[in-house]
Amino acid sequence: MSEEERRVPGHVAIIMDGNGRWAKRRGLPRNMGHARGAQVVEQILEDADDLGIRVLTVYAFSTENWTRPQSEVTALMNLLNRYLRSSVGKCMKNNVRVRIIGDRTKLSDELVESIRNMEETTAGNTGILFQIAINYGGRDEIVRAVRAVAEDVRSGVLKPEEITEEAIAAHTDTAGEPDPDLLIRTCGDERISNFLLWQSAYTELYFTDVAWPDFTREELEKAIDAYNGRDRRFGGLKEK
Ligand code: FPP
Repeated sequence: MSEEERRVPGHVAIIMDGNGRWAKRRGLPRNMGHARGAQVVEQILEDADDLGIRVLTVYAFSTENWTRPQSEVTALMNLLNRYLRSSVGKCMKNNVRVRIIGDRTKLSDELVESIRNMEETTAGNTGILFQIAINYGGRDEIVRAVRAVAEDVRSGVLKPEEITEEAIAAHTDTAGEPDPDLLIRTCGDERISNFLLWQSAYTELYFTDVAWPDFTREELEKAIDAYNGRDRRFGGLKEK
């Protein structure tokens, strides 16, 4: 499909699966798969921007990932911290705004500080928004949003009958941003795994057998082409 014919999804979300399997197939430690995966995210962010995608959201660490061996949890946290520290300059140069979604109360002080610095430094950028999910779970996010709404009711800011979809969405981690148009999951499994549950009500799903460390711009373009073949009706009779 040519660039002119292609309709580019505004918001693309990715479940970057298969780092471990990619490493195992090569006789490498799992953490090498994650390290390679982190390089791939940086490249895909540039490709997404180049293709005209406005928001890219990636699932880097789920609320369930804490159950992995301590050494892997530490390696992933270090990788994320290193990315946040070392790419501020690149994000500024490329006009990328970074936002972290998820519950940061369980993250180390050091990581929280890296997040604060990255978010504050890039807050004024007007290019692609890069959302990284860290200690993120869709159900956990809904619970936190509902709690915040309940606080509004308790304090008298909101009446129970004023609890609407918009009121709940306003308290999710992605508040103010559009829902994903396309969700990609790599490496074969076809499930959502607690990612963006609230936001993906009408998201188009795309699954590929390619492991995340092997994911390329061509694979992203394939996913966008598949998205172009979908008939999005949002529960109605024809596309909005
Ligand atoms: C899933 O593969 C991947 C993860 C749990 C971690 C994803 C994190 C990164 C790619 C690094 C993110 C870095 C930045 C800069 C955002 P898996 O380990 O579950 O693979 P497996 O299913 O083959 O074992």
